[in-house]
Amino acid sequence: MRIVLGVGGGIAAYKVASLLRLFTEAGHDVTVIPTEASTRFVGTATWEALSGNPVSNSVFDDVHLVNHVRLGHEADLVVVAPATADLLAKAATGQAGDLLTNTLLMAHGPVLFAPAMHTEMWQHAATRANVETLRGRGAAVLEPASGRLTGADSGPGRLPEPQAIFDAAMALVQGRSDYQLPLAGRTVTISAGGTREPLDPVRFLGNRSSGKQGVALAVAARNAGATVRLLAAHMEVPAPAGVEVQRVETALELREAALAAAADSDVIIMSAAVADFRPAEVSDTKIKKRDDTADPVITLVRNPDILQELVEQRNASRAGSGQLVVGFAAETGDSQGDVLAYAQAKLQRKGCDLLVVNHVGIDKVFGQDSNAVVILSRAGSEPQEASGTKTEVSEAIIRRISFELNHVSPRA
Ligand code: CTP
Repeated sequence: MRIVLGVGGGIAAYKVASLLRLFTEAGHDVTVIPTEASTRFVGTATWEALSGNPVSNSVFDDVHLVNHVRLGHEADLVVVAPATADLLAKAATGQAGDLLTNTLLMAHGPVLFAPAMHTEMWQHAATRANVETLRGRGAAVLEPASGRLTGADSGPGRLPEPQAIFDAAMALVQGRSDYQLPLAGRTVTISAGGTREPLDPVRFLGNRSSGKQGVALAVAARNAGATVRLLAAHMEVPAPAGVEVQRVETALELREAALAAAADSDVIIMSAAVADFRPAEVSDTKIKKRDDTADPVITLVRNPDILQELVEQRNASRAGSGQLVVGFAAETGDSQGDVLAYAQAKLQRKGCDLLVVNHVGIDKVFGQDSNAVVILSRAGSEPQEASGTKTEVSEAIIRRISFELNHVSPRA
């Protein structure tokens, strides 16, 4: 496919280098047209090297090739990222002051704008009107992602992740109307990893959770356009870029963080392996081994069930009634019942909307890169199976969550 990639003058221009790589690695021929302003952020040498094509933003370069007409005509797809408020305004009013705006006027194929700007600029009536004008003419304008902006503030206005723009572009070319990011404007809180319950300053009770599943879910939710908060207990993998990370150690810390984060989340996913019990007493000093004393006995007390409390908090708040609460269950079957029967009972007991069930066997699930799960719904729809790498499974779970949020009536 021939793609024209227009680059606007915003700080997010640096992320477009990754988008360009995704296009070229998928075998597409990309011509980059940066605006004059954008070259203050990323120079033309970067675009030439990564695209393998000459780069210009002037209608007066290579005039004999009539680029201002040819590029738009020949393009199977035009993508503008970041689409600044200025570029959206120019496109909406049909201006043709440089090679990119000329190309937009000549484009015959689909055109995708991926906006990035400060929240107030995005929400300004002028920008809203320009976006409506462009959409009215058939252009696709992505909803920007929410989250940390260039300054200390946050809100809608972030450039969606390169993979998300790539996916939207491919959907658009296939003529699909669902190119919009399914979780744009949504906040998703995900707990990941295993809690550690201290016995003394050096020892703890822990579990084998690696955090891989939670991190893969965070990536999938981020790529679907969500603002993602990761409540990270102990993890063996690093937290991904583009998500807010809050570190927690114990079940009680996770409980506090989860209840606070859930208050303004559209979705909360409890994928963390939470210790059901903690030592009743935590010694301030290291417990000493003495030959003259009896073997120590550790008394455990029950930790609160965070998932259940999240459901109760959701049900108690009218404003939160649209919130989706998702639990995980690691189950084994036995002579009393099979895995799904136990999982159904757990779903009803905990009251969450979806329960993602792992069938635990020896060496399965914990720390592995692949996985097979069944998604159960409290509303009673057929159990849905998903298998593959943890990335693929996470994408399937996030697709299901998006579907529930966008198509199923409020819960509770
Ligand atoms: N969970 C939680 N708080 C706990 C224990 C578990 O929020 N104190 C959450 C987990 O994050 C997971 C779900 O509950 O989403 C299921 O956890 P699991 O350990 O499978 O279930 P339990 O309730 O502990 O039941 P059992 O150990 O009897 O299987």
